[in-house]
Amino acid sequence: MRVLVVGSGAREHALVTSLLADPAINKVVAAPGNAGMAQQIETQPLDVSDPAAVATLGRGFDLVVIGPQLEGSKDFAKQIMVSAGIPTAESETVSDAEALTRALDRFGAPYVVKDDGLAGGKGVVVTDDREAALKHGRACLAAGSRVLLEEYLDGPEASVFCICDGTTVVPLLPAQDFKRVGDGDTGPNTGGMGAYCPLPWADPDLAQWTVEHVAQPALYEMARRGTAYQGVLYVGLALTSKGPRVVEFNVRFGDPETQAVLALLETPLGGLLSAAAAGDLADVPPLSWRDGAAVTVVLAAAGYPQSPRTGDVIRGADAPGVLHAGTAMRDGELVSSGGRVLNVVATGQTLADAREQAYATVRRIELADGHYRTDIALEASR
Ligand code: AMP
Ligand code: GLY
Repeated sequence: MRVLVVGSGAREHALVTSLLADPAINKVVAAPGNAGMAQQIETQPLDVSDPAAVATLGRGFDLVVIGPQLEGSKDFAKQIMVSAGIPTAESETVSDAEALTRALDRFGAPYVVKDDGLAGGKGVVVTDDREAALKHGRACLAAGSRVLLEEYLDGPEASVFCICDGTTVVPLLPAQDFKRVGDGDTGPNTGGMGAYCPLPWADPDLAQWTVEHVAQPALYEMARRGTAYQGVLYVGLALTSKGPRVVEFNVRFGDPETQAVLALLETPLGGLLSAAAAGDLADVPPLSWRDGAAVTVVLAAAGYPQSPRTGDVIRGADAPGVLHAGTAMRDGELVSSGGRVLNVVATGQTLADAREQAYATVRRIELADGHYRTDIALEASR
């Protein structure tokens, strides 16, 4: 089997790593890939935002795994959830300033204000400050987007990746990511600073609950509309005092949770994903998982997330468990080329072991003014 992985982040590097370990796969190509992937496999240039170009390149492969974002509308996702009776935050979508003000007052603080469209991680504001909520909502409207106001959900978050073939769902192990840049969940939001898997504090039935109450109803609803869904349904949950509620859907693997989840998956990934593409998931035997735990720590560039500095030389990245994200080769040297530069993934018998291993590797990597969180999976490991 020949597989194309589309994308250039650490998530795609993790997908490539897992696919290379699958004996049924004889070729993996990444497009556009990054400097780390280029050391292992063939990479090809590709504009991932050009669907026609992706389709053309993909024709030469048996399976195409698309890493980056595909989804377009939070309002559409909400409509699917409501029609399918999926537990989620109550919400209202508005398209003018007057309705925005009314809805803000109806929901009250803490305010949850979301841009309907994709906003590169900057679309959601959760705040007690009514003025800040109003400002974000108005800015989204001014940019031509609709705005979703939502009931505030408390409780820890979990991500459950559900592999779907249109009718059947196979869940992966729940994971958790860390979105704020600083230790103790301080500072601005990022694309993700680390993740771990499994979640020792969560209900052991969480994945199965997600299949029954979220993914399966979503698949029925999509099929009923004549647009059966095949691919990864990323279910972002808030585990509230009233039970789990869906915070968001994405139609892709999450980053950086995927890096930790795939590190524990023993079942060959290529077979699982091609069964999803072929509509054969019902025939796939139960997944097998390695014992223990996995932790991913992200090494970010100076100035990330506000204004990441690029072009810094990286040393020590040639170690087991290092996945590349924002890297490039310049004059024969590995340099940073994006905000999140590298991920280090490690596994261990316990979360504490996996943490120790991941941080030992991170500490050996040299990147001027690079920074990382020191508390990934810390609380869960105690
Ligand atoms: P989203 O892009 O919709 O996942 O939102 C980004 C982040 O904002 C989520 O991961 C949550 O941390 C937070 N968030 C989103 N919706 C809510 C909500 N209804 N209540 C509380 N926090 C939320
Ligand atoms: N881990 C968050 C995301 O992939 O959207």
